[in-house]
Amino acid sequence: MTFDTRFCFGNLLADYHFEILNFIMSKILNFIMSKVKDVKIIPQDHIDEGTSFAKALKDLKDPIPSLPAEPITISIVGAGQRGSGYAFYSKMNPKLAKVVAVAEPKESRRKKMQETYNIPNENVFSDWKELAKRPKISDAIIIATLDHLHMEPAIAFADLKYHVLLEKPMAINLDECKKITDAAIRNKIVFLVGHVLRYTPHNRLIKRIIDSGLLGNIINIQHLEPVGNWHFAHSYVRGNWRKEQDSCFSLMTKCCHDIDLMLHWNDSPCVKISSFGNLSHFNSKNKPTGAGEAKRCLDCAYEPSCAYSAKKIYIEPFEKGNHHWPVSVVTDVLDIEHLVDALKTGPYGRCVYECDNDVADHQVVNMEFANGATATVTMVAFTESICTRKTNKFDAYLIKRPGFLVLWGR
Ligand SMILES: NC(=O)c1ccc[n+]([C@@H]2O[C@H](COP(=O)([O-])OP(=O)(O)OC[C@H]3O[C@@H](n4cnc5c(N)ncnc54)[C@H](O)[C@@H]3O)[C@@H](O)[C@H]2O)c1
Repeated sequence: MTFDTRFCFGNLLADYHFEILNFIMSKILNFIMSKVKDVKIIPQDHIDEGTSFAKALKDLKDPIPSLPAEPITISIVGAGQRGSGYAFYSKMNPKLAKVVAVAEPKESRRKKMQETYNIPNENVFSDWKELAKRPKISDAIIIATLDHLHMEPAIAFADLKYHVLLEKPMAINLDECKKITDAAIRNKIVFLVGHVLRYTPHNRLIKRIIDSGLLGNIINIQHLEPVGNWHFAHSYVRGNWRKEQDSCFSLMTKCCHDIDLMLHWNDSPCVKISSFGNLSHFNSKNKPTGAGEAKRCLDCAYEPSCAYSAKKIYIEPFEKGNHHWPVSVVTDVLDIEHLVDALKTGPYGRCVYECDNDVADHQVVNMEFANGATATVTMVAFTESICTRKTNKFDAYLIKRPGFLVLWGR
């Protein structure tokens, strides 16, 4: 018996990014202050028969960081989608954190961050390398550049003794990961990778339930990441993560969170792994005949029928008032003229069957852990829901049959 629990945390989705950013920031601040906080344990009766999972979720409160004497100072490297999101934490929690420096090549983003956080001119840089030439100017640094630009700044700022929050994926190959790890260890800094899914209320609850032993030993986990059709088209066909050479393979760029969760939940090293995947749909072979020679949605006769129409993904939501992601990725200037212009000339207006993408649109992974447990992870692009990894309800039925656990979780 399985239950889709999206209803339980559907209302959290709107606040999803702030929730996880808040939590991860509270973690880094806590570490910096070297104060271990009590973590509330969900009482067993919250997951007994008849008690709602929603109630347990609601009762799971983030630990509240103790107030430092002065806000922790933070420099932002890369003032894009994620860098701006993390910086916003300081707006919401001015007693805890203060953004004091920014490094960002794009003038409009750099200026916006400078204005939003009143950053003095001498702390505004157009490249992280300029910031790294200065002695340390903040307690911590957030590195939110694109994937292939993680290793160099991570090592440079670790060597300057900044505490580092590095966006996921940590790096694009094992060698780079090892070099970053060495730098963090030799400098004895607080170092976190932005595996934010560990910190969502839902996943923290799952971890606590597993650790409580209530389910017995975990034998098998089945995990599904339904990326979502237009989300996949946005990021992995038209966007930043479409080409392995420019970032990494899609399982890494999308599902490193999911693989991380398998390790986090199992708490045992993975000893065997196999994986297969393909780019099956987003290529010229599947271009609808009605699209003819059109290379862009705004010139395409088939556009009204196409699930991947840029008009439907960006213009219509913008006209209904969505000025956030994904529209904010398409243009920095959020008005209809700039948006239409970006779709006529930029990457996000391209036909999804005529792009230069090469990453897989579906992939499966089989894992075996040292404790004998197994897990399967499936990533698939072609779903209606967007990243709503589902978690079966931990109800009495499952609890009375410990040892087999199906987790479809966000
Ligand atoms: N944790 C998550 O769930 C999650 C979600 C989305 C993205 N990410 C990761 O976050 C990172 C950033 O993604 P994003 O969507 O914010 O990308 P983005 O393109 O919006 O932002 C990256 C920024 O880095 C800037 N940059 C480039 N070179 C630089 C340099 N030399 N010095 C300083 N800044 C420089 C770019 O100009 C850009 O503004 C990526 O690694 C991505 O994989 C994580």
